[in-house]
Amino acid sequence: MHDLRQAGAKAAEIMADHLEGVAERPVWRPVPDGELAWLTRQELPETGRALDELLEDAREHVLPYPMGNGHPRFFGWVNSPPNPAGVLIEPLAAALNPSCAGGDHAGPHLERAVVRWLAGLVGFPHPPGGGLLTSGASMATVICLATARQQAALADGWDAREEGLSGRPSMVMYVTEEGHSCLHKAAQLLGLGARNVRLVPVDATYRMDVRALRAMIAEDLDAGLRPFCVAGSAGTVNSGAVDPLDEIADVAAAYGLWFHVDGAYGALGVLDDGAAAQYAGLERADSLALDPHKWLGVPVGCGCALLRDPGAARAAFSLVPSYLVDENAGDLGWFAEYGPEQTRPFRALKTWATLSYLGRSGVKRLVEHTTGLARTLGAMVEAAPDFELLAPVTTSITAFRHTPRADGLDELNRAIPVAVQARGNAFLTGTRLGGRDALRTCILHPDTTEQDLVVLLDEIRLAAKAL
Ligand SMILES: Cc1ncc(COP(=O)(O)O)c(C=O)c1O
Repeated sequence: MHDLRQAGAKAAEIMADHLEGVAERPVWRPVPDGELAWLTRQELPETGRALDELLEDAREHVLPYPMGNGHPRFFGWVNSPPNPAGVLIEPLAAALNPSCAGGDHAGPHLERAVVRWLAGLVGFPHPPGGGLLTSGASMATVICLATARQQAALADGWDAREEGLSGRPSMVMYVTEEGHSCLHKAAQLLGLGARNVRLVPVDATYRMDVRALRAMIAEDLDAGLRPFCVAGSAGTVNSGAVDPLDEIADVAAAYGLWFHVDGAYGALGVLDDGAAAQYAGLERADSLALDPHKWLGVPVGCGCALLRDPGAARAAFSLVPSYLVDENAGDLGWFAEYGPEQTRPFRALKTWATLSYLGRSGVKRLVEHTTGLARTLGAMVEAAPDFELLAPVTTSITAFRHTPRADGLDELNRAIPVAVQARGNAFLTGTRLGGRDALRTCILHPDTTEQDLVVLLDEIRLAAKAL
């Protein structure tokens, strides 16, 4: 224990040095060959090594090669820097090392509070037991869609868990062309079949075309299929668009469909007063996926599935063998009854710490700071003759492209992200939007400034010139 005490103090130093120095180092750099060999080819030591040595190794071989998301000029995908309170508290969860499957110990109890807080932040209804923490939104989506699938089967008088799907009319789900890949993966995993996931077209602002949705559902009903779920996005990954959730909720209600919302990245955007109206209808969803490890900065991984009717998730997953029966579990039972995971890590502690450290006003400030910067970047792009804004800015994502010449723009913009990344001064990623190669930035860092945006545009220009 003396070793642990000493090494712990040293670990805290290393951690603080790393976090303090992030902005001074390259945003990202490739792992050099020698280090790659160390990382990938080392042999398992025959005898155990000292804690101190492990820390030295981490300092020398691991911390210098980050993904980049700790840096204020990291704008790639949807990856935030870690919140300091989450970083600080994480070792305590490991020290306790519970399984939060359920039971009467701190972990599951704290998870109840954290899930309630998350639902409250975004204005989603929260009956007791109405949600659970997951590895991320991909797993939250599996839980929500499995729940939807079982509810549809039960409504039709059969049991998908018992019978499987064979011999039944195909269940059809609706997402937009901009819906995240995790919705497709979940549908495939659940045996629904990729061909039964309809791609609903989007309007000029990349929001679901609800008239088209209605027409597609009607057509599928005519064909004898079983429309069962529509998934809207509260913040798409490409442009940050928020689907017309209220209208989608109307359609879902009219046709008896499960209404799922993917708010993995963007649900917290509702806290931005300027954008809140766009989220109307979120509270009508049957389920919502929301990732604390995105905008909030809870250290990876932590997602959350929120459910209007907790009993529905339990009906989709509960399977309690005799060796897990807990007479004292109370009405809600164990978390493990609401999803596929049995042994569950103590995700609630880092989420509790992050939320408590920020407070409601801190979360709102973080959201408004980053959405404000995204709008500023949008305005800068619109004002610049060599850039073009490709979508309205609703959340903290800005989609645009570099237009220094008339042709070859797809090719150019496709090449820009890697070229910018290699320079080490900023990091952004690309996508395709409306049939064109695009650049996109997602701002999640509390320390990003307007000056960082100036640097970003200059970096894009410089990288493009060299292509
Ligand atoms: C909009 C959206 N939905 C879902 C996901 C999947 O979430 P996770 O990576 O936490 O599984 C992401 C991830 O970036 C996302 O941006």
